[in-house]
Amino acid sequence: MSRVGAEASCVVVLAGGKGTRMQSNVTKVRHPVAGLPMLVYPVLAAQQAGAKKVVVVTSPEDDFADILPNGATTATQAEALGTGDAVKAAESATVGADHVIVLSGDTPLIDSDLITELAEAQSESGAAMVIATARLADPTGYGRIVRDAHGHVEHVAETKVAGDASTAELAIDEVNSGIYVFDRDKLFAALAEVKSDNAQGEYYLPDVLPILRAQGDTVIAHELASPDHMLGVNDRADLGLVQQLMNDRIVRDHQLTGVTVIDAESTWIEATVKIGADTVLEPATYLRGTTEIADGATIGPGSTIIDSKIESDARVIHSYLTEAVVGPGASVGPFAYLRPGAVLAEGSKVGTFVEVKNSVIGPGAKVPHLSYIGDADVGEGSNLGAATITANYDGKKKHRTTIGAGVRTGVDTTLVAPVTVGDGAYTGAGSVITRDVPADALAVARERQKIIENYANRRA
Ligand code: UD1
Ligand code: CA
Repeated sequence: MSRVGAEASCVVVLAGGKGTRMQSNVTKVRHPVAGLPMLVYPVLAAQQAGAKKVVVVTSPEDDFADILPNGATTATQAEALGTGDAVKAAESATVGADHVIVLSGDTPLIDSDLITELAEAQSESGAAMVIATARLADPTGYGRIVRDAHGHVEHVAETKVAGDASTAELAIDEVNSGIYVFDRDKLFAALAEVKSDNAQGEYYLPDVLPILRAQGDTVIAHELASPDHMLGVNDRADLGLVQQLMNDRIVRDHQLTGVTVIDAESTWIEATVKIGADTVLEPATYLRGTTEIADGATIGPGSTIIDSKIESDARVIHSYLTEAVVGPGASVGPFAYLRPGAVLAEGSKVGTFVEVKNSVIGPGAKVPHLSYIGDADVGEGSNLGAATITANYDGKKKHRTTIGAGVRTGVDTTLVAPVTVGDGAYTGAGSVITRDVPADALAVARERQKIIENYANRRA
């Protein structure tokens, strides 16, 4: 028989349950793993495996329209009566498929290779049902695989609540992954016979197994070489473990494409982040959202970068960036805060205890210490003295500050916007600049120093 992957299959992803064990107001499968709702992963894996169709079983409360990848369809389960009932809800959506592959929305570590492996196991054996299993050091929370004296799988003993599995069954370390391949017509015929006379009063999908076997159909338990891809999320402890494993995988993928990661354990990279070769990630670094980092950059230690773009050879040390752009060779931090719209041109510097928002820092320009630059344009090569502040807000409206090229502001300059400082101009230390400064001029806007002689003695 020729080997067949998932192309002839309809993949059904179960996501209609409530996820009560999460103790959350948020639907379980919406909880993010590496920045994406966990439901997205099995859907993408199914699409990558070449599935003919992907159907997500949803509850009437949440259709996931805002998070589902393009091309996925949904089927609504009217009431959460169990995984068997959930698959039934997808019955009409699977018409025309030879096989149905069932995945869980709470199993985000799955990949397309695993789906293909199972589809092939089915096509090679012609089995009516292939159930993926794994041996776990701690099988708590999973259904156990009960085999007969010949090693054939007899049934799955459920463990979510007490009463379904015997003590002997609870000692079994082989678990049901919740990932299956079925002959479509046999699946739905068997599902029609599944009863809910169990500890939870639910229709359990694995209960089709003894029904199929009793009618002489082949059921294969396909033991996975490693459990890495089948771990499910039922509670927040599971979520923590899965997040960590997903991060390990993402970090490793970047390492293999040329990124140096000094401390993988304290480096968190979301699935959507892109990083160029020869970039170094120092410890305690969080890269999130649509962040893109080019080649040869140094990020961290201790930096968080969200939805930002970092160009080649830039450095970001102990800083927090959101929706910012850091140009080639530019330097950020230590201890800088770049907010939305902060754009640092090539070779510029934003240094220690500096906050920049909605401002362009020109090529080679420097804001080295203790500044707030908001709604400003800083020209090429300018250098803002320590504690230069843009007073951009008059209590009602924001105003822009325009600083030309080659400007030198003295320390503690306050620029009261709207105001323009011309090219090559200077400001005196401690100046409060309220009027435009012409090019090449010096503006001094402070009280002259007064000396009161012999003051200490007079006071006594
Ligand atoms: C299920 C299996 C268990 C297996 C484990 C693997 C059953 C009865 N048990 O248990 O053998 O070891 O997965 O992770 O299948 N869902 C619905 N509608 C429902 C109930 C659930 O769509 O009425 C969805 C959930 O949203 C979830 C998935 O089905 O994504 C699995 O449900 P869950 O309650 O997590 O099953 P487990 O207890 O983990
Ligand atoms: Ca589960």
